[in-house]
Amino acid sequence: MCGIIGLVGSSDKFPLKPGIMVYRGLLRLEYRGYDSAGVGSVTSKGVQILKGKGSIRELEKKLCLSCIDGAIVIGHTRWATHGAPSDTNAHPHTDCNNKIAVVHNGIIQNYQELRDILIGKGHIFRSETDTEVVPHLIEEIYRRLGDFYESFKRAISMLKGSYAIVVITSYEPDKLFFAKKDSPLIIGLGDGFNLVASDIPAILEYTRYVITLRDNWIGYVSSNKILIEDLADSRVVEWKKLVRTVEWSIEDAVKGGYPHFMMKEIHEQPRALKETLYGVQRDPAIVKAVELLARADNVYITGAGTSYHACYYYSILSSILAKRLVYSFIASEYSVYASTADKPDVLIVVSQSGETMDALKALRAFKEKGVSIIAVSNVVDSAIPRESDLAVYTRAGPEIGVAATKTFTTQTLVLSWLSIALGQGTGALTKSEAEYYRGWLKKSAEIVAKTISWNEALAMELADWMRKKRSVYYLSRGIGVPIAMEGALKLKEIAYIHAEAYPAGESKHGPIALVEEDFPVIFIVPEHRELEKALLGNIQEMKARGASIIGVAAESTSLSNYFDYWFKIPSSHWILTSISHILPQQLLAYYTSVKRGFNPDRPRNLAKTVTVE
Ligand code: F6R
Repeated sequence: MCGIIGLVGSSDKFPLKPGIMVYRGLLRLEYRGYDSAGVGSVTSKGVQILKGKGSIRELEKKLCLSCIDGAIVIGHTRWATHGAPSDTNAHPHTDCNNKIAVVHNGIIQNYQELRDILIGKGHIFRSETDTEVVPHLIEEIYRRLGDFYESFKRAISMLKGSYAIVVITSYEPDKLFFAKKDSPLIIGLGDGFNLVASDIPAILEYTRYVITLRDNWIGYVSSNKILIEDLADSRVVEWKKLVRTVEWSIEDAVKGGYPHFMMKEIHEQPRALKETLYGVQRDPAIVKAVELLARADNVYITGAGTSYHACYYYSILSSILAKRLVYSFIASEYSVYASTADKPDVLIVVSQSGETMDALKALRAFKEKGVSIIAVSNVVDSAIPRESDLAVYTRAGPEIGVAATKTFTTQTLVLSWLSIALGQGTGALTKSEAEYYRGWLKKSAEIVAKTISWNEALAMELADWMRKKRSVYYLSRGIGVPIAMEGALKLKEIAYIHAEAYPAGESKHGPIALVEEDFPVIFIVPEHRELEKALLGNIQEMKARGASIIGVAAESTSLSNYFDYWFKIPSSHWILTSISHILPQQLLAYYTSVKRGFNPDRPRNLAKTVTVE
């Protein structure tokens, strides 16, 4: 996820200097990425670029982004996917002759193929990004055609993947060219100037009139003209009917209309899962990880908090799918495990931020023993991936809410993919079995979108009852246990209600003593016949003591008659338990927190990144 803004107009019409307008717009887009940034404009000598690694504010101090000159300016704030955050990987990217500058959000899947062809034709690449193929590709086609817009259109039609792209060029210095597929892009209409941006907050200070672009739309804006075409059928789009007035305040707009970042991030999960899937399907690191894991003596996996729950989930999947026992442990307990670890072992370190000190310490202790390290992180080039032998990334985009939501579902997606690959690699799964499981993972975005829409109203309603409770149990078996643990953590950390999770079979060994009339017990029921059967007895035990039973179970469950409340999950497959069954629990924790009068984005005593031991 990255943020884009572009501006074009007549010099006497801008409300502020264009460089300042773009800089302020970038600050509003910082929630989309902040590891590097840059701006570009057209001058008489070609395109001028100011860019580098660091936050927008740091770069302003160093390079004065807002000082960039010109009546046509683009800006970008980056969330690294291809290539670590660096000065050269920052956007805008240019062609060989410095006449074309491009900013991009999304992933170009066929970039390697295009890059190889362009290098063969003599193009010199300066970065490791997928984006850089775009200016070179346009340049290559323009050499033959001599018509910039036509060359731009042909270049875009050769791209596979997702993109919001904005281009400026000294060949046509009064137009901002744009194209959109699967990544957001809007046009903002000003008086004597026009804007293009990833999101409304970037332009809201300058205009309230916007057009939301659709997939496959392409075109350009100048100070007084807008052309939009549909690339699919070359039809010119009648855009005047599509202009709408935005009623949001700036504060609303940063959260995309949601009252809190946590809610926005819950709803971003279908997109985050799709993008993570794109990445993991093509990531050569998965093949290397399988090689390392297959020849390891012992495999360990560690993380803290939510990331630990993803680790625990992986350890269960690994024994089911790859027939491989994995030791999962909480990162701060590393010394117990590091003491027996040895060279042919592998440690997987899972950390959203890539900076958690407990996880970093575990990594270093194992590394000292000669153990190979695989990182799973959401932040490219953060400390944990940097110090690991190999890194696999989730592509959830920045998570601003302190409680992890989209990063948990994307972590477990990556880890599920890895366990299938390992199962196939070691022969525990046949090719067609592996394909079958992967097929379900590919449906994750669709299942999540449905699960949210089916359960939001019930979560809101139930929160009214839950907010008065002092204590809640979260129970499950097998693959559902880490998901129960994650649900309990969510409620505890943002609604401040005591919540405890444990394997349901443990109930009768102590915890059931607390159960009394109307005590809430949440049962996570994976879509798995044996587990359902085993959970029935536990549900009955709790019911007999007066507990109120909240089931998180598929629509096909045989247990629904035992539930007092039922979070219904669209029927799918148990391999999606971490993704589908956590959703209602995130929603319930969120609404309970809000109904108790708390701010779920800022839970007390907690920080997003814990860099102390
Ligand atoms: C819970 C939460 C924390 C983090 C933990 C590890 O919602 O966000 O428990 O999961 O602090 O953080 P990372 O994954 O950045 O290492």
